[in-house]
Amino acid sequence: MLTILSVLAYIIHVCEVSSYEMLSPAEVIQIANNKCLLLNPINRGKEIVEMLIELESNVFREQDQLFIGTINVDGFLYPDKSQPNLPNTELFIFQKIIKDRSCLMKVPIPKPTIVPFTGMVNKENIIDFVNQYCFTYKSKNGALSIEGLHREEILKSLFHVSNISNKNIRNIFMHEDSSTCTSDSFENCLQEPQNIYHKSNIPQCERVNAENTKDFFNKYLKMSKPVIIEGAMKKWKSNKWSMKYFQEKYGDNDVHIKMTSTGEYEGVEPVTLWDNHEKFLKKIPREVKAKLPFPDLVVVRPATLNMKFSKFLDLIQSISNSNYKNVSAYLEYSSIREYFPELESDIEEMEFIKGILHLKHLNIWLSDGNTLGKTHFDPFDNFLCQISGKKEVILFEPHDNSRLYEAHIPEAILSFNKTEMTFSRRHLSDSTSLVMSPIDILKPNFQKFPKFAETYPLNCTINEGDVLFMPAFWWHEVQSYPSPTEGRNLAVNFWYEPFLTKEFPCPTCKLDVNPTYRNLL
Ligand SMILES: *[C@@H]1O[C@H](CO)[C@@H](O)[C@H](O)[C@H]1NC(C)=O
Ligand SMILES: *[C@@H]1O[C@H](CO)[C@@H](O)[C@H](O)[C@H]1NC(C)=O
Ligand SMILES: *[C@@H]1O[C@H](CO)[C@@H](O)[C@H](O)[C@H]1NC(C)=O
Ligand SMILES: *[C@@H]1O[C@H](CO)[C@@H](O)[C@H](O)[C@H]1NC(C)=O
Repeated sequence: MLTILSVLAYIIHVCEVSSYEMLSPAEVIQIANNKCLLLNPINRGKEIVEMLIELESNVFREQDQLFIGTINVDGFLYPDKSQPNLPNTELFIFQKIIKDRSCLMKVPIPKPTIVPFTGMVNKENIIDFVNQYCFTYKSKNGALSIEGLHREEILKSLFHVSNISNKNIRNIFMHEDSSTCTSDSFENCLQEPQNIYHKSNIPQCERVNAENTKDFFNKYLKMSKPVIIEGAMKKWKSNKWSMKYFQEKYGDNDVHIKMTSTGEYEGVEPVTLWDNHEKFLKKIPREVKAKLPFPDLVVVRPATLNMKFSKFLDLIQSISNSNYKNVSAYLEYSSIREYFPELESDIEEMEFIKGILHLKHLNIWLSDGNTLGKTHFDPFDNFLCQISGKKEVILFEPHDNSRLYEAHIPEAILSFNKTEMTFSRRHLSDSTSLVMSPIDILKPNFQKFPKFAETYPLNCTINEGDVLFMPAFWWHEVQSYPSPTEGRNLAVNFWYEPFLTKEFPCPTCKLDVNPTYRNLL
């Protein structure tokens, strides 16, 4: 009897052990494409094995993001014969491989990043280790941790424009009195003009005074909710940034400027407008073409030019005075730290975000005021601070990017002839844009992009002294206008590592809390 019991116990034990598998290098790579791996090399640390088996069956049960197992480190070679740098520890993590979505060409098989466990071996430390490097949110008893609960709450309460308005593009573009339209087809009932900037019934962005931003984290940042903050630049010394001041102080600085003929920056147009497009399209490898949903379109990159800042200032004043026809010049997202480091002392980060978000870029934007930045998103939380002129910013939420047709779109770069002051379309590029929408919201092609009709736009127009908080990944189109007195448009913006992030291009990928900010949960 005793022997039967112990055999039974042995069998049960073996069954448990069987889920803690020995993996070949090929299996490690295969699993790492979908999951994070917690591995203990065979023959290292017997007490760890027991602990891992217990963690697997209790804490990390039903955890489909994690695989726990063992490997033989002796002679461990990946299928391509490369040898990973395996740490000499009893435990390590092979992180889930993040797909490189930016490159369309075949690349060598990516390898997981390996993180050694260095702390004292106990259950809590191992759980912390897994939470940190496998992006899980588990507590000791297997339930969601406080951070995990907070994250769930955040993802459930994200702001949608439909929470404040029932007007999607379909409603906005239809005749006010849609009963007069008898056609079944939406496209036949569109009201002219279709230019979104000529509509007036677009819901407005919330406005808040800088004094009432104490709860900014909970009310806006966490919810991915755009808001205009008034009075946040009161202490800035940017009021001395006149054209004359720029000329005198920084005239001799080198700047990198962008130019187009129409004032439109980075719009999308048919590739057929470009020289030699037939030859170019033929050269695109088949596997790349298969990943381009709109091979008939290109994102038009502006021409670029290096010059002295004084020359640029003359140029935009000249454009402003109509001395040049069909020429637009823009000092676009130009790094203040690189080109005008002294200007930084005249401005200040938003007080309510200082020390919370990590600043990535600080930019200056200057033009004659007649520019249109076409619909795109940026992978940064943005504070756009308007100093002179105004910007009419139309936003679309990032929750269902199939509606904005997020994709790789081939790029082309305008050429500029300085002698003639003319542009030409010659340079089709091998690269693609990952952040532009193929939809022209000034004249949407609903036949080609029917889902666009289901988006809910938001109007966030900023005037001098306004700051627009634009959460990362919100699509935006920006129509600038000149200051009537200064004939220019001037803004600065702060780009932060985003609190909520997503992979891109990936129309169905959802926002999630950026692991960088776990400490804020
Ligand atoms: C906001 O809208 C989204 C999408 O329609 C919905 O899931 C969510 O529950 C809404 N939130 C509130 C607070 O109404
Ligand atoms: C956006 O709002 C501003 C006022 O904040 C208004 O002047 C403008 O006409 C609106 N634009 C659209 C397209 O609704
Ligand atoms: C400017 O562009 C418009 C529209 O493309 C064109 O009709 C006009 O001839 C151009 N003017 C000059 C001076 O090139
Ligand atoms: C620019 O235009 C001038 C005058 O037509 C011409 O001679 C020159 O070759 C052009 N430059 C380039 C780079 O195309």
